[in-house]
Amino acid sequence: MSRPATTFWPFDWWLSWWDAFLPEPYVASLTDAGEARTLARLHATAFARPWDRHEFERLLCERSSHAHALWRAGTLQGFVLSRKAADEAEILTVVLAPGVRGGGLSHKLLRAHLAHLAQAGVAHVHLEVDEGNAPALKLYARHGFEQVGARTGYYLKADGSRATALTMRADLA
Ligand SMILES: CC(C)(COP(=O)(O)OP(=O)(O)OC[C@H]1O[C@@H](n2cnc3c(N)ncnc32)[C@H](O)[C@@H]1OP(=O)(O)O)[C@@H](O)C(=O)NCCC(=O)NCCS
Repeated sequence: MSRPATTFWPFDWWLSWWDAFLPEPYVASLTDAGEARTLARLHATAFARPWDRHEFERLLCERSSHAHALWRAGTLQGFVLSRKAADEAEILTVVLAPGVRGGGLSHKLLRAHLAHLAQAGVAHVHLEVDEGNAPALKLYARHGFEQVGARTGYYLKADGSRATALTMRADLA
């Protein structure tokens, strides 16, 4: 599958080559549909209705998609995936591997992603989040997102119950 053009590509190649020697986690743009299986596996650790590998392959190949991965010691530890239309973008999903949650790395991932979106001409970013998802709500608030609405019963949880989705928006200066 073809790799969409990205301003970060040469730097990403260099980073991936040196990855095994880099002790610190780093964020790089994610365009390789070959990572779809890993994304699906990570997604399944977090959501009752996970997206499968084919869904991620499709998303990664779309020109409107923008994705970043968090790498550490040669392993993809998290990712964020957005879709862009004109000067707006929607964050479709953000996931960190269970073993690295709670360590503040989501800030690094989201900061890099939002900076990339701003550079790509995005002025407004939208997302939906479970109102009970405390880490995600704190993460988004830190990065300038504010609640603009709510969708009662929007999410189906693993136990069959329903949860409210908060809709949030951030304006990228
Ligand atoms: C949401 C997610 C990406 C956040 O990453 P994380 O590594 O867990 O969170 P971080 O350690 O970076 O911390 C983010 C903030 O949440 C806080 N936090 C972390 N765990 C928390 C918890 N269990 N309860 C309350 N707050 C928590 C942190 O203190 C931090 O707040 P701060 O900015 O005020 O310091 C991660 O938890 C995840 O992958 N969850 C599963 C997928 C998911 O829910 N994605 C979001 C869907 S919209």
